[in-house]
Amino acid sequence: MCGIVGIIGKEEAAPLIVEALRRLEYRGYDSAGVATLHDGLIDRRRAPGKLRNLGGILATDPLPGVIGIGHTRWATHGAPTESNAHPHASDRVAVVHNGIIENFRELRDELSAKGHAFVTETDTEVTVHLVTEYLRQGLDPVAAAQKAVKRFEGAFALVLMFRGDEDLLIGARKGSPLAIGYGDGEMFFGSDAFALAPFTNRVTYMEEGDLAVLRRSGATVYTVNDVAVRRPIVITQAGAALVDKGNHRHFMAKEIYEQPEVLGHTVHAYVNAITETIALPRTAIDWTAVSRLTMVACGTASLATQVAQYWFEQLARLPSGTDIASEFRYRDAVLMEKGLALFVSQSGETADTLAALRHARENGQGIASVVNVAESSIARDSDSVFPTHAGPEIGVASTKAFMCQLGVLASLAISAGVARGTITREREIELVRRLLEMPRLVGEALHQEAIVANIAQELAKARDVLFIGRGLAYPIAMEGALKLKEISYIHAEGYAAGELKHGPIALIDENVPVIVIAPYDHLFEKTISNMQEVMARGGKVVLISDRKGHDLSGDGVWMRIEIPECEPAFQPMLTAVPIQLLAYYTALAKGTDVDQPRNLAKSVTVE
Ligand code: G6P
Repeated sequence: MCGIVGIIGKEEAAPLIVEALRRLEYRGYDSAGVATLHDGLIDRRRAPGKLRNLGGILATDPLPGVIGIGHTRWATHGAPTESNAHPHASDRVAVVHNGIIENFRELRDELSAKGHAFVTETDTEVTVHLVTEYLRQGLDPVAAAQKAVKRFEGAFALVLMFRGDEDLLIGARKGSPLAIGYGDGEMFFGSDAFALAPFTNRVTYMEEGDLAVLRRSGATVYTVNDVAVRRPIVITQAGAALVDKGNHRHFMAKEIYEQPEVLGHTVHAYVNAITETIALPRTAIDWTAVSRLTMVACGTASLATQVAQYWFEQLARLPSGTDIASEFRYRDAVLMEKGLALFVSQSGETADTLAALRHARENGQGIASVVNVAESSIARDSDSVFPTHAGPEIGVASTKAFMCQLGVLASLAISAGVARGTITREREIELVRRLLEMPRLVGEALHQEAIVANIAQELAKARDVLFIGRGLAYPIAMEGALKLKEISYIHAEGYAAGELKHGPIALIDENVPVIVIAPYDHLFEKTISNMQEVMARGGKVVLISDRKGHDLSGDGVWMRIEIPECEPAFQPMLTAVPIQLLAYYTALAKGTDVDQPRNLAKSVTVE
C-alpha cells in the first residue's frame, strides 16, 4: 500500500514526482525515493521517514533527468531504512512497487543461485533481478517485463524504468491500483488519479493483469495474455489543488470541524427536502427483493456498518449482518440467494474490502457500496454506488468520512424501511426532518471543545482507557477506543456496557478512566447501572450524554460532556463528535503525530 509514480516528461522530472508523491503520502510514509535517467544511466535519491526528508536531500543533491519514477512506502518486508527504500535498481532497471510479491523467497533463491546479489530485505528486489536476468538473456524491455510479471504471485502494481531508454516506462497491475495519465507530449503513471491531477485529468484505469508500455507518444496496454487492448480514457474529477489545513493545526482537526458542512452535503444528496422523502440515486436497490443484507468493511468504516446494522434491523426489519473484510473473504460465509452485499470504504481501495466484494460477487450477491472516492476500484466494481460527499480526507484517522458514511447508511436504512413497509409516511417525514437537522446538531456538539480539551489533559496521563456503550452507542464506544489508540498510542478498548462484568471490570481502578456513552434513550438506565458498577470500584467516569441524561445520572461522575438531544436513531452522529475530539486533544497533549500516526496508513492496499 505504497504510492507509486512514473513520469516521461519534458522538464525536470524529480520535482514533479515529489509533488505527486505528496498527494500519495496517505498510502504510507515510512520512506520515499525517486530515480531518474541521467545521460541514460539510473540515478537515485532515497530517504527513510516522511517525504520531506527526501525533499531535503534533493534540495542539496538534485537529480537531473526528464524521465523518472517515485515511491512513498508503507513497509511490509524489511525495516523502513534507506537501503529498503524504493526505487530498487540494478544497473539495467529501476522499479517502484506497491503490494506484495508473495513468492519472492523462491524467486530470490533461484536468482541468487544464478549469481544475483541481493542487498535489501524487501520482496520488491526480486522484480529488479528477475527483469535484469531476462534482459541479460537478450529479451527487450517489454518482453522481459511481460515474462517477469507472469511469474509474480500476490497483489501488486509496478512501474519499471530502463537504462538507456529515456522514452519508456512499463507499468503492470495485478490486485493493486495503477492509472495511466495522458499529457501533451508527456505520459504518467500513478497509484491514483489524485496523484496525477496536477499534470492531467485524462486518465486510464488499468485493469487486472494489464501491462502498459508508455512512451511520450502514448500508451499501449496489453492484457495478461499479451494481447494489445484499448482501455477507455476518462476525464477524472480529482482536484489539482492540494487540500490544505486552512487555519487548523492538523488535517484531522480541519476534518472534524468540517463535519457539519460535509454531513449536510451528504444528507442533501439523499433527501428531497421539499417532498420530505429519501431520494436515492438512479442505481437504487429494490429493497423488497433483498433477502439479507451483508455489510463488509475494515477499520472505522466497519464500525459505521455496525451502527447501520441497528438501523437496518430496527427501521427496515431487514435481516442484516456485518463482517470485517479480512475475515469475510476467507470465512466461507453462507450467503443467501437474493442477498445484497454492501461494502463501505472511504478510499474505495482497501485490499481486503475489494477482495471481499469480488468474493461476494462470485457467490451471487448483489453488490452495493458506500465510498468517498467516486472513481475508486470498489465503486467501479459495484452495481450500485452511494457516494459520501466528505471531500478528500487526509488525516489517517477517519472522522468526517465516518460521519458521512453514517449519513448515507441512515438514508439507505430509511429508504429500505419505506420500501418494505416498516416505516409509515408520517414516520418517514419525521425521520427526514430529524436527519436534516443533524448537520446543525453536529455543529453544536463541536462546541464542547474546551471541556473536551480539559478532559484530554487527564486522559493523556492514563495507560489504559475503557469506552462503554449499549445499542447504538456500542459501535461508537469501539470507535472511541480505536481513535484514541490510533493517534495517542494509549491502550483503549471499546466494550458493550453489558459485557463489562464479564471481564474488563477486573481492570477498573482509579487509574483507568472509563468513557461512558449514554444519551438518554430506552437503554439509558441500563448503561447508567453499569456506570455505577464502575464508580463503585473507584473507576473515574467521563459521561457523554445529553441534558436529560446528565440530569438523571446521579452524583459521582468525574467529568461530563454534553451533546444536544436528537432523534434517538441518529445519536451516533452526535456521540461520534466528542470521542473524536477526545482522541485529538489527547494526542495533542501527548505530542504525537496526529495526521500521520506511526505504523499506520490512510489506505490499506495490502492484505
Ligand atoms: C485504515 C485507515 C482507517 C480506515 C480503514 C479502512 O486503517 O487508517 O481510518 O477506517 O483503513 O479504510 P477505507 O478506506 O476502506 O475506509
